Amino acid sequence: MDYIIDTHAHYDDEAFDADREQLLSSMQEAGIGRIINVGASMRGCRDSFALSEKYDFIYAALGVHPDDIVNLTDADMDWILEKAKEPKVVAIGEIGLDYHWPEPEPSLQKQWFERQLDLAREAGLPVIIHSRDAAKDTADILEAKKAGEIGGVMHCYSYSSEMARQFLNMGFYFGIGGVLTFKNAKKLKEAVDYIPMDRLLLETDCPYLAPTPHRGERNCSLYLTLVVEAMAEIKGISKEEVIRITAENARRLFAL
Ligand code: NI
Repeated sequence: MDYIIDTHAHYDDEAFDADREQLLSSMQEAGIGRIINVGASMRGCRDSFALSEKYDFIYAALGVHPDDIVNLTDADMDWILEKAKEPKVVAIGEIGLDYHWPEPEPSLQKQWFERQLDLAREAGLPVIIHSRDAAKDTADILEAKKAGEIGGVMHCYSYSSEMARQFLNMGFYFGIGGVLTFKNAKKLKEAVDYIPMDRLLLETDCPYLAPTPHRGERNCSLYLTLVVEAMAEIKGISKEEVIRITAENARRLFAL
């Protein structure tokens, strides 16, 4: 019996301030064997690193989300590159493009996305990509930067099966979370049906995107069994197989 690996969590978020320690100490007994805590801001990067030092089953990803790039400095990049040498740091992310809101302007987002892709290459770590309403630009930049050589995951995958083919061809993995259990998630269900099992990863993105029937509540890794169930049904395999294969995938990509 294998354990679940949550490849994308934000336990540094203030939503966990009241019970973080208690919640995290219940994880392993509940079958959550490994968690990657993902930085989204510089503050989040520092907190993710601290969590990875405190808990042996927590690993860190360091990077800055497109919403948070505006005040980034060269010193921030130097800090990430330095910390990326530590054994518990397993990825650069989350980085990418988000055109859902008009700010920050796309040219600035692209600049920091490219810079952090270069940083990942220099660090020799895979990338965790956040991409919303920006499929074409994301794919173009990943192609131009030959990101397939670095490897990585399309986190919270939200595009079509057609787009998935392009990311598959680059060797990318796909992070799948609570959205898979939503009634209106037809496009994602089709994409998960299309993507080969050996490219799928489980993730929560907690505290966000809790699966049904917890939709709208605070999410946490304990709810991943609901995503496992939904994935098993789509793939026509057992829940144990979903857990085993997604854990293998996570270990392969992040060298856990
Ligand atoms: Ni996230």
